[in-house]
Amino acid sequence: TRAAAVIPAAGLGLRLGPGAPKALRPLGGTPMLVHAVRAMARARAIALVVVVAPPEQVPLVRSLLDEHPPPPAVEQLVVAGGATRQESVRLGLAALPEDIGVVLVHDAARPLVPVETVDAVAAAVRSGAPAVVPALPVTDTVKAIARPGAPGEPEPVVATPERALLRAVQTPQGFDRATLLAAHDAATSDLATDDAGLVERMGVEVVLVPGHEEAFKVTRPLDLLLAEAVLARRRI
Ligand code: CTP
Ligand code: MG
Repeated sequence: TRAAAVIPAAGLGLRLGPGAPKALRPLGGTPMLVHAVRAMARARAIALVVVVAPPEQVPLVRSLLDEHPPPPAVEQLVVAGGATRQESVRLGLAALPEDIGVVLVHDAARPLVPVETVDAVAAAVRSGAPAVVPALPVTDTVKAIARPGAPGEPEPVVATPERALLRAVQTPQGFDRATLLAAHDAATSDLATDDAGLVERMGVEVVLVPGHEEAFKVTRPLDLLLAEAVLARRRI
């Protein structure tokens, strides 16, 4: 069976500040989404890329991808996304042809993921792991609170989990197709912030493989500065 990448790109990018949807904002003069699609299409394992675009921007994203065609062996599809990331991923999964056996879900907001990371995730799924997540040790100590406080109010700490046992997770997260579809079907609320979280709730084992610093998510304006610097370093 073939492997596909589903790229949720339908978010607004509110934390990045005013402007176009995040996936369409330029990085090194090229929309972030184009970088993310390329990063996935370059991986040997990937035969199909499904981009989940903001509903109003589907035609724009189609023409953008036509301007930046993938390698000849890779097919591209663009579908409209939903109101949450989880809903967007679900809509992307619904567009997968029958012969896709492995699915990698990758945020458009992680445009600089190295191809080695993509290959490693795909290989681990091929070797039999139903759910594979790239992750890095956290560098900041993490505190837990009972609930988010009102803006500007101090927040009481309830716990400090041992940092050595914490990992920050990235994408692409790789899955056996049936496992990921079942996890999305079983999802009741929209609270999961990643796909592996839905798989965990079904009681299926999720494993971590090494992530990469350059697979960081562009969320706030400072992240965009860092992404521009990483890209400039690559182009030297
Ligand atoms: N995403 C999506 N559909 C949504 C919300 C998010 O496809 N309704 C995608 C984003 O486009 C992004 C990925 O999920 O590639 C990770 O989400 P995030 O970094 O939170 O991006 P945004 O939701 O766009 O940003 P913000 O939360 O700051 O508005
Ligand atoms: Mg978001």
